[in-house]
Amino acid sequence: MSKPTIYISKPIPAEVLSYLQEHAICKMWDGQGTASREQLLSELEGADGLLTPGSQIDRELLDRAPKLRAVSSISVGYNHFDLEAMGERRVVGTHTPYVLDDTVADLVLALMLSAARRIPELDAYVKRGEWQRGKKQAEDANFGLDVHHRTIGIIGMGRIGEAIAQRAVHGFGMKLHYYNRSRKPEAEQKYGAVYSTLEEVLKVSDFVVLMTPLTPESHHMIRKEHLALMKPSAFLINASRGQTVDEAALIEALQTGVIRGAGLDVFDPEPPQPDHPFFNMPNVVTLPHIGSATSSTRFDMAMLAARNLITALSGERPEHVVPE
Ligand code: DGY
Repeated sequence: MSKPTIYISKPIPAEVLSYLQEHAICKMWDGQGTASREQLLSELEGADGLLTPGSQIDRELLDRAPKLRAVSSISVGYNHFDLEAMGERRVVGTHTPYVLDDTVADLVLALMLSAARRIPELDAYVKRGEWQRGKKQAEDANFGLDVHHRTIGIIGMGRIGEAIAQRAVHGFGMKLHYYNRSRKPEAEQKYGAVYSTLEEVLKVSDFVVLMTPLTPESHHMIRKEHLALMKPSAFLINASRGQTVDEAALIEALQTGVIRGAGLDVFDPEPPQPDHPFFNMPNVVTLPHIGSATSSTRFDMAMLAARNLITALSGERPEHVVPE
């Protein structure tokens, strides 16, 4: 059987590329970062498979790639897949769950601690040379809020949500409420998690953590009326997708003291405009969508995505086909 042709839309580790080259004829984007939409559209014509970190897969792209049989995303999220269009053309979509759970959970805790203890703000203060012993300033000028023994509310109790729960409850002694489509009796038992309505989670939590995948139902699930339910001392932490929150409402809530602060790894759109109001808010910690961005986790994700793609192109069902 002749080897399939695959297009790889961002540079990947040499070991992953060697694995792919054993099984396929590989064409890889050789520029910086990820191939742009235009580049992808012009490169895909003869490809049977595509390995991508998150390019939009829609009808226009599928029209340009009539031979395409599988798209493997190097991500756990797959909101960039038009599943209907892919289904109609029998294009298999795969993603990379499990391998990034702990890494993303670590980042969520980092966002909570950074926002509550004002780490970036005070780091900048020290580096500007403003920390001078003996200088008169209000005693509480550098105070933050505790994370330990507070209440965390997790919205979206999937595998990453559980990894966050484990750290928050067993590491920091936090109380946990969660909102999820279905109950998680095991998490309730392991972490003392209280299954609650969305409104209840927002009301009782000191840290509201959004970990839900982006779907039509979760789009803007946090709006002005939801933020109004949160405690004025609470923080919103988002490491899922920017579109789960109405960003204009969040900006207003942060500017008017409806909530105390936010820790954000995701935005709508990404990257945010250079004059975005978040950039002038010391109570907001911003990161460039790095939830899974450690060398070893990104390697594992690329390797898993490569294996998913080769399995799909061999005609077998890969383990990580995206749920419909
Ligand atoms: C994913 O894999 O979907 C994450 O957002 C990447 O950080």
